[in-house]
Amino acid sequence: MSRIVLVTGGGSGLGKAVAARFRAAEDTVFITGRDTHRLDRVAAELGVKAIPCDATDPRQVARLAGELGPDLDVLVNMAGGNTDLDGTERPGTRLEQLRGAWLANLEANLLSAVLTTEAVLDRLRPGGAIVNIGSIAAEHASTSYGAAKAALAAWTAGLSAEVGPKGLTANLISPGYHAETEFFRGQLSEERKVQLIEATHNGRAGQPADIAETTYFLASAGARHITGQTLNVNGGAHTTR
Ligand SMILES: NC(=O)c1ccc[n+]([C@@H]2O[C@H](COP(=O)([O-])OP(=O)(O)OC[C@H]3O[C@@H](n4cnc5c(N)ncnc54)[C@H](OP(=O)(O)O)[C@@H]3O)[C@@H](O)[C@H]2O)c1
Repeated sequence: MSRIVLVTGGGSGLGKAVAARFRAAEDTVFITGRDTHRLDRVAAELGVKAIPCDATDPRQVARLAGELGPDLDVLVNMAGGNTDLDGTERPGTRLEQLRGAWLANLEANLLSAVLTTEAVLDRLRPGGAIVNIGSIAAEHASTSYGAAKAALAAWTAGLSAEVGPKGLTANLISPGYHAETEFFRGQLSEERKVQLIEATHNGRAGQPADIAETTYFLASAGARHITGQTLNVNGGAHTTR
């Protein structure tokens, strides 16, 4: 059965791979992002539909919901990233700059998912799935990015309880280091990359397909009893036991 799928942040990296995976199954896929040129290019490449939307902006998210149509089966809240890597100059005192930096990561990684989910929740049909994307950084949440992803994981568990009675699942995938994305903004040193790979049990970086396949599984008929969970996709770099 063809489904309707929304992937926020679907214009690059992990989100693009997720969109391609659902499209390969002949689902109707919408991707969002702020860079409209890239979004249009990727949408044409994958055969999916582009809707420009900044997931942190309530007005744009409301407009996105209006453009989607009445039904949705799968929501993948992929939009996010570590805003500390964006190089944004923040005004004010040291504490004001700190506040701005924390708010940016909370908006990009937590509120983006909360706003999008709330905006489209009434469109999700029974049997549907919500997949949020966290991070291994949540396990060592010394940064605002890690703290935002930890909060996203906690919120996902509560969301599961809220949407379960409607026949929906809600889970969070927590990726470890994944290559072939724009996440690090070219700021990952070779030394750090080696460290991240050495921390895994299987001796490799994650690939976008690892997240795409896990997302596809969580939205499949075989995963209907998996809800409220954090799934670590990290080659063993962090284990749950
Ligand atoms: N790569 C890793 O190692 C890794 C590890 C753990 C978790 N993650 C998480 O995986 C997700 C995908 O990251 P990625 O690695 O694929 O990096 P990426 O290539 O930079 O992708 C991030 C995507 O999110 C979009 N985005 C960011 N902020 C947005 C906003 N406010 N509204 C709408 N779209 C927004 C970006 O598009 P625009 O710039 O056009 O908006 C971009 O397409 C992120 O949530 C990230 O935190 C990645």
